[in-house]
Amino acid sequence: MSASDESSSFSAESYFSTQPPPAGLEQDIAGVKQFVQRQASSGRNVVLVTSGGTTVPLELNVVRFLDNFSAGTRGATSAEYFLKAGYAVIFMHRQFSLQPFSRHYSHSTNPFLDFLEIETSETSSPSSQIRVTSEKERSSIRSAAGTLHTLTFVTVNDYLWLLRAVSKELSVLRRKAMYYLAAAVSDFFLPRQKMSEHKIQSGKGSLHIEMDQVPKILKPMVDDWTGKDGYIVSFKLETDQTLLIPKAQTSLQRYGHQIVIGNDLNRRKFEVVFISWKAHSASTSTPIKVKEVLEEDSRFAESWIRIDPHDNNKEIEEDIIAELVTRHEAWINGG
Ligand code: PMT
Repeated sequence: MSASDESSSFSAESYFSTQPPPAGLEQDIAGVKQFVQRQASSGRNVVLVTSGGTTVPLELNVVRFLDNFSAGTRGATSAEYFLKAGYAVIFMHRQFSLQPFSRHYSHSTNPFLDFLEIETSETSSPSSQIRVTSEKERSSIRSAAGTLHTLTFVTVNDYLWLLRAVSKELSVLRRKAMYYLAAAVSDFFLPRQKMSEHKIQSGKGSLHIEMDQVPKILKPMVDDWTGKDGYIVSFKLETDQTLLIPKAQTSLQRYGHQIVIGNDLNRRKFEVVFISWKAHSASTSTPIKVKEVLEEDSRFAESWIRIDPHDNNKEIEEDIIAELVTRHEAWINGG
């Protein structure tokens, strides 16, 4: 099956009825339910941030797997800015990919908690305080306690099951829920029924594997899992700059959600484009640095966010999140 083939051998429904849920799903969702209930009673907006790449195992006793590119920088950085904007965050990330706050240093698998300890410890050595440099940063971390809930996935199967279950839990918040899908999700997978139990042997020469297409989950997510009320932001990653806008527009048209953020692999840290429906486009007072609205297709608004690529003190996610918060507020108020 080619990458351009739009037909899927698996609908979302048939996927979930044939592929087994990951171990621990029920426990994960019980935690999410409690978290969402707490945030609902405090009246906070909640955002689900997905981050990092999914894997596709080739064997049941897995030795080899395919991986999707993503360090998790976009997701982890965005989660920090959502927390700073007063959102509660469900951070659903690839195991061992970058996490909010801890992304600045890489030696711990759950350093967010380390930071909290560091913050309260007078005796810790200066070297362990590396990135908690300012009182402002300490304060952000302190206030994030209780508003950040993390979940991990590894395979595309873990991701899909978790995404569906978390989305359904979050849908009780109606318009106050945002879904920010920055994870790099595999397009193809090997159904369990076709997987070799043991390590694939190399003695036979070249390897031929026919993979199935991963179901397009944005459609059921928009129509069913989030009750049509959620504010859904997806990403479109391309390496050919000329495909960015048409592909993002096609995605918006196909799934009918709120925004597609287009990013070019090599320019993603300093330039992104928001594609949205004209009726839902941002107010004119948004903090976008450079904004252009192109006229090729009158149904879509295109807003560019650009920062200086040489400014090491500026992160593009700061502007992305500020813009989304403004747009989400308008959405909550019926815009
Ligand atoms: O983490 P970094 O290194 O900073 O990189 C960040 C990033 C480049 C990975 C990130 O900014 C990004 O672009 N993420 C989305 C990459 C991607 O997988 O795009 P896609 O074209 O495969 O998918 C587009 C959208 O469709 C995604 O938001 C995804 O949620 C959705 N999708 C994907 C697969 C699938 N089966 N169903 C879907 O609905």
